[in-house]
Amino acid sequence: AHLWRGILTEYADRLPFTDADPIVTLGEGGTPLVAAPALSKEVGAQVYVKVEGANPTGSFKDRGMTSAISKVVADGDEAVVCASTGNTSASAAAYAVAADLRCIVALPAGKIAAGKLAQAIVHGAELLQIDGNFDDCLRLVRGLADAYPVALVNSVNPYRLQGQKTAAFEIVDALGRAPDIHALPVGNAGNISAYWMGFNEYAGRQTAASLDHNSARRPAATDSVPTMWGFQADGAAPFVKGEPIENPETIATAIRIGNPASWDYAVAARDNSGGLIEAVTDAEILDAQALLASEVGVFVEPASAASVAGVLKQARAGRVPRGALITCTVTGNGLKDAQSALGEGAIETTPVPADLATAAAALGF
Ligand code: F0G
Repeated sequence: AHLWRGILTEYADRLPFTDADPIVTLGEGGTPLVAAPALSKEVGAQVYVKVEGANPTGSFKDRGMTSAISKVVADGDEAVVCASTGNTSASAAAYAVAADLRCIVALPAGKIAAGKLAQAIVHGAELLQIDGNFDDCLRLVRGLADAYPVALVNSVNPYRLQGQKTAAFEIVDALGRAPDIHALPVGNAGNISAYWMGFNEYAGRQTAASLDHNSARRPAATDSVPTMWGFQADGAAPFVKGEPIENPETIATAIRIGNPASWDYAVAARDNSGGLIEAVTDAEILDAQALLASEVGVFVEPASAASVAGVLKQARAGRVPRGALITCTVTGNGLKDAQSALGEGAIETTPVPADLATAAAALGF
């Protein structure tokens, strides 16, 4: 039996660490790539979902955090800081515990899903609840990291993208080839940049991000790269508008971002893959979330469903090639934000007696 050892060890030959470097891991990566027959039927293609909610803190951020936090420890720093819509802070807080570091997180007050806030709290992060949005928080923590002895672990830290690119490796390893199309949600635009870097490096090519971040050049493990499809929420879609937006709004709070940091890398991923970055409405996001839960068996948070909502929308517009191999990253676990999935409807709590006849009657047997 092979025990998964976390991405830094599993993909050591493709990451900027040596055997002498300390590794901080919670066993992240190795997440399921799940065939989704219900989606395949609807889209007229072969659709798989990469279930990143299966990571230790419930989102893809753990791939970037094992890498970023390991580098912080190698550098001898003792504190980390990040801005977050919730998942980055949950992940940073957990990896900071594993590395015995102080962790400070700046969050848009009132706009963080309850599960994510709980994670930051139980892992002992110091919370700065900011009167502002994610973009304000990121500006603030960049200032803190410039002025004080605290390392920034947002995706502007190059080690974040290095770790996150391994999801692309896993997809190619699982399929035995690169998909034709890869779809994912876009917020601060780190992840689309990381996937594009990963798919290219697995094909023996380097992207601008590879060069900027000194990726190791390694032999090709596959011969092609996918077309990249990014999806933003309608009220938070700066790439669709072509410029940053002032007041982003969406039920998908994880991607409620108006001024993405990895702008140029994301545009390069879109254009150099012949891809697109488009918007989906909150209603389309919630429909896709419900479909994933009720027809596929995967519970994701709203932002995560943007990838699937986008592919469904493209299919309805006749823009999905028949039979294409499509992978969709679903970025975070639905348990983080159960309230948004349940909506206004309260959970039924009227008890019935623990009685066989009553239960059978209630079930229509
Ligand atoms: N999906 C989820 C669940 C996220 O938490 C995020 C980003 C994204 C998608 C978008 O990824 O920013 O790389 O384009 N969450 C960040 C956070 C901003 O603070 O947790 P991106």
